[in-house]
Amino acid sequence: MNLMKKMLAAPAVVLALWAVTAQATTDDAIAERLKPVGDVCIMGEECKGVETVAASAGGGARSADDIIAKHCNACHGAGVLGAPKIGDTAAWKDRADHQGGLDGILAKAISGINAMPPKGTCADCSDDELLEAIKKMSGL
Ligand code: HEC
Repeated sequence: MNLMKKMLAAPAVVLALWAVTAQATTDDAIAERLKPVGDVCIMGEECKGVETVAASAGGGARSADDIIAKHCNACHGAGVLGAPKIGDTAAWKDRADHQGGLDGILAKAISGINAMPPKGTCADCSDDELLEAIKKMSGL
């Protein structure tokens, strides 16, 4: 009789554990389904997700001004470490003449040259974005 009880008890424990696990899974699933579909965004407050949408709606491209302000101005604004200054077209033209034009100095900007870091620290800039920034800074 004792043995019979044990034989019945073991599967009962397994069944009880299974039931608890199943219930937990269901609760999670219900909570997931009950989640609000969207969040309310209040003007002036940070709103998650909106920036991404706005960026992709605009094609994701940054303007040359954004890139210059964020990455190039630190050195090219004041001419740090001998960097050609923004707006000093003569200095930029002199460099372009020595490197075979805008494409030549673009190549140097991508690879880096002396104290000029590769891509001017804008690691995720495309070649086109860099070229636009160079055109804007040089006036060429
Ligand atoms: C850490 C400072 C620094 C930053 C940031 C920087 N530059 Fe420069 N850049 C330099 C220096 C210094 C030179 C001059 C290098 C030399 O000829 O010795 C230079 C030169 C250049 C040249 C001329 C290359 C040539 O062939 O003569 C281009 C083009 C250029 N930078 C583009 C950019 C762009 C575009 C950015 C921003 C995306 C940028 N740089 C950010 C320091 C910087």
